[in-house]
Amino acid sequence: MQKLFLIGILSLLIFSCKQNNVSQKAQQQLVSDTAMVVSANAIASKIGVDILKQGGNAVDAMVATNFALSVVYPRAGNIGGGGFMIIRTPEGEVTAVDYRETAPLKAHKDLYLDENGNVIDGLSRNGGLAVGVPGTVAGLYAAWQKYGQLKDWSKLVMPAVELAQKGFAVSESESFRLNKYKEDFLKWNPDNKTFIRERWLKGDILKQPALAKTLKLIAEKGPKAFYEGPVAQAIVDKVTKSGGIIRLEDLKKYQAKFRKPIIVPYKNYEVISMPPPSSGGVALGQLLKIVSQYPIKQWGFHSYKTTHLMVEAEKRVYADRAKYLGDSDFYPVPLDTLLDDEYLKHRMTDFDPAKATPSNHIFAGKFELHKESFETTHISVVDKNRMAVSCTTTLNSNYGSKVIVDGYGFFLNNEMDDFSAKPGVPNQFGLIGAEANAIAPQKRMLSSMTPTIVTKDGKLFMVLGTPGGSTIITSVFQTILNVVDFDMNMYNAVQAKRFHHQFLPDYIMYEKKTFDKDVMDSLKQAGHKLKQVKYMGIVKAILVKDGKLEGAGDSRNKDDDVEGY
Ligand code: DON
Repeated sequence: MQKLFLIGILSLLIFSCKQNNVSQKAQQQLVSDTAMVVSANAIASKIGVDILKQGGNAVDAMVATNFALSVVYPRAGNIGGGGFMIIRTPEGEVTAVDYRETAPLKAHKDLYLDENGNVIDGLSRNGGLAVGVPGTVAGLYAAWQKYGQLKDWSKLVMPAVELAQKGFAVSESESFRLNKYKEDFLKWNPDNKTFIRERWLKGDILKQPALAKTLKLIAEKGPKAFYEGPVAQAIVDKVTKSGGIIRLEDLKKYQAKFRKPIIVPYKNYEVISMPPPSSGGVALGQLLKIVSQYPIKQWGFHSYKTTHLMVEAEKRVYADRAKYLGDSDFYPVPLDTLLDDEYLKHRMTDFDPAKATPSNHIFAGKFELHKESFETTHISVVDKNRMAVSCTTTLNSNYGSKVIVDGYGFFLNNEMDDFSAKPGVPNQFGLIGAEANAIAPQKRMLSSMTPTIVTKDGKLFMVLGTPGGSTIITSVFQTILNVVDFDMNMYNAVQAKRFHHQFLPDYIMYEKKTFDKDVMDSLKQAGHKLKQVKYMGIVKAILVKDGKLEGAGDSRNKDDDVEGY
């Protein structure tokens, strides 16, 4: 009996050691001296830090972390999606890397409309027609080619290959989502059992041999292995079979672009963020410029006055977004005007400190946010020379379109939903748009992703970003104010409760316990409608303070992890 008991204990110990090899416990705050990676998964953050320790710079680490996330965070980490990066070199040079998906050559303005001109619900979100031409592999490669330090590209991809081969233990939240989307996986991929189990449990091992094969090809041959040859053919075959229109030419033509970031001064800081095709940098810049005209520090954190001002600014900024923002290579986005101090002052002339301005009715229409849940992910990196990279990447919804490329094991995005399918008709985030964000061949769909770097007196100060669809911009906005105006440390700034207004629907979304009762009462009295939501944003950020790096993941995602040395 005693022997049996001992054997039991022993095998339990062996089992948990085995588990620890493949699953890593997440830590959500850390202070370190030299370098740091914050991502949505401990294994991925550690791979990034390993690259830094091998002499890689922030861009090398970012690339390796991204590939690792495509394995351990399949709901949003990806090679079948797209993203944006802001890079700041130790010398202070800044660049934006745009590897957003593009609309296929065969796409057109009315792609998702029926014969009566109505949007066919779900067509831009599910299956092959939802898929934009993926940009991730091209973007990571372009960033590495221009800014990477390590000469050997394969070094950045091989850790992900190994992970996909050996497998890793899924976290609670990943197992929950894998279970949740089982029917969708089976619907689009009846023959693929990689992500299918009777029921996933925390700690179950997910192996992805097909993805390992694809990543190995990318490690050996670079982006050509993805955009041409058998992988490209398999993408086209699967997209076609799933009702989509991506062809080989689309993939061959895909190119990542380097762009000039949006740079906006805020007090003695400079905020560097993503230009179109993201709305993030412009909207964040507008918001900061507007609130800089008011004494919010004196008014206080989450006070009625501060909240009311921020909400009223957000309404106006998101109204501008709906009308003027889109891919600037296709539409003349009036950047200078949108960020002009006089224009922004004028925009606030009807601001009434005591009353909510009802959202403009030009785009009026009643709608609810779509029920589909969504996920994007962010990575912040700082290296030993204080080179910084802020990167947000996505498949749009959880696991994108749910379509997996047969034989190659990766999910394809459903980013086409970020276009405006028809003026005034909301997408899954309730966001509306117009001509600026109408579909056109090779155009990039408007994004809210806001990878951001902040400098203070010309020196690196903060690196941050978050998932969250339309709430990305306001989550980044609030995190910056929390540090700069409300004197929080990085961890508290990230954990602080959030609220959000996006012009339409006309209500303030807020997390539980954001406001005191008297603030809630005042907001209601001023005419605001309020709606409680589960959470907004999962910010990952690094603050440079007194020569040290203060890293913070977000407790809204238990897997968020900071690693550094
Ligand atoms: O680019 C965008 O704005 C969206 N596709 C991002 C989606 C997202 O953040 C979903 N996550 N939580």
